[in-house]
Amino acid sequence: MKKNIQTTSTHKKLNLFQDAEAASLFVAHQIAELIREKEKQAKPAVLGLATGNTPKGVYQELIRLHRNEGLSFKNVISFNLDEYYPILPDDQQSYTYFMRQYLFKHVDIKPEQTHIPHTDFSEEGIAQYCQDYEDKIQSLGGMDFQLLGIGRNGHIGFNEPGSDFESKTRLVNLDSLTREDAKAAFGSLDKVPEKAISVGVQTISKAKKILLLALGERKSEIMQQAINGEITTEVPASFLQSLSQAEFVLDASAARGLSS
Ligand code: PGA
Repeated sequence: MKKNIQTTSTHKKLNLFQDAEAASLFVAHQIAELIREKEKQAKPAVLGLATGNTPKGVYQELIRLHRNEGLSFKNVISFNLDEYYPILPDDQQSYTYFMRQYLFKHVDIKPEQTHIPHTDFSEEGIAQYCQDYEDKIQSLGGMDFQLLGIGRNGHIGFNEPGSDFESKTRLVNLDSLTREDAKAAFGSLDKVPEKAISVGVQTISKAKKILLLALGERKSEIMQQAINGEITTEVPASFLQSLSQAEFVLDASAARGLSS
């Protein structure tokens, strides 16, 4: 059921950049600063991480900072937003594989401190699994930082249109547009899983800092709705308008549709 939020105090903090590289560097440097700050305090940095094309430049810069500027991931504890269900961690379309390829194998993060929803078991155990995933995040005090991309339908994580703002980690049905966009990676639509495990909108909203990164022309229409449209469960990213700790980071192409 569609729900809207009426609020007079929206935040909508925008960070606009000329191109994808500049936007990605901005995000990477915020993450690096947080990791270093937490390291100084001898505390873990709890990061919520995203997959897809969008964060690749962010991870590339973090790898560069690790190699050339001594950034260590030893105190990082990471939780990924989502994973297809069912899928095997070694499948090339899995987000476990993605994170290994694009970040984890290039830095000194401890494997036991990385978390990605694993789904290689029957649907019966999933509710408990999701509860445990949620509890683990909250037992660490929630995410210090959450990186988000956005789907063309406004999803954040795999919180598809219609996701409740109170939702927590759970098994979800994937939206047809999400499956369509995943077709290229899987080869054909019938190979794209119909379900996934995703942290919830509420889980995301508890993060102390949230950056949603949107790059390219194909995101411009949905960014207009997410930033300037009504706050509605039909566009889950629009909920970020109501969170003072959330910011939008866009390149010029993604920002093209924004009207004042
Ligand atoms: P993309 O996906 O970065 O591959 O565009 C983003 C998302 O669906 O969240």
